Amino acid sequence: MATHPKAPKFKRVPRHVAIIMDGNGRWAKQRGLPRIEGHRKGTDSVRATVEAAGETGVEFLTLYAFSVENWSRPKAEVDTLMRLLQQFLRDEIAELNKHNVRLQAIGRLADLPAPVGAQLHETILATSRNTGLTLILALSYSGRIEIIEAVQSVIREIQLGHIDPAQIDETVLSRHLYTRYFPDPDLLIRTSGEMRLSNFLLWQLSYTELFITPTLWPDFRKPDFFDALRSYESRNRRYGRI
Ligand code: FPP
Repeated sequence: MATHPKAPKFKRVPRHVAIIMDGNGRWAKQRGLPRIEGHRKGTDSVRATVEAAGETGVEFLTLYAFSVENWSRPKAEVDTLMRLLQQFLRDEIAELNKHNVRLQAIGRLADLPAPVGAQLHETILATSRNTGLTLILALSYSGRIEIIEAVQSVIREIQLGHIDPAQIDETVLSRHLYTRYFPDPDLLIRTSGEMRLSNFLLWQLSYTELFITPTLWPDFRKPDFFDALRSYESRNRRYGRI
């Protein structure tokens, strides 16, 4: 993908960047605001990050927008997050098309409220011909559930006689994950300083470089994304070799 004239130049750009967008609640609390204001401001960070990823030539950007565990938050917060998501999906179609961004989603998408699911489907369709950045939203996502569903799907193929259990290897299992169409992330960014994976892309992050920043997600902007890419550029990826 062509890089943007204004974006900094990097010797090596990750093909796939995944982000755990954390700290919305703390950002709001620090300001005496309701948590939802942090999520609202976090939507601006999503916009800036999508632009920055496109400008630098990243091919895939996966954002952890809602986990299976997040359904256990108070109903008012879940409802507002779903509303923000639906608004984003509806209002950003023009902007995504302008930036040649193709939307995709991973997770238990059938769990989403029907209007959100319908809007998601519509935005995926409306951006499906774009050839630049692929933006992947992880929604009602759980890494462990993804692996369980993949195992179930492999078992069905065995029962149908399509594969022999002796043939099961990493490639076979990978083909049954939600992420079968995407390469594994090269770089994982987590905001707000927490040192955890939180059930995100457990299989796919095996050899991913980690970048953890104390910046809270609502404060994350293009320069923060460029800092992460600069750190990635200096990494020596050995994949267990010497
Ligand atoms: C984590 O912060 C963030 C979330 C659970 C939701 C992320 C959602 C958005 C950024 C907005 C909507 C998304 C899109 C794609 C438009 P937290 O609430 O766990 O923060 P805390 O750890 O400080 O409490």
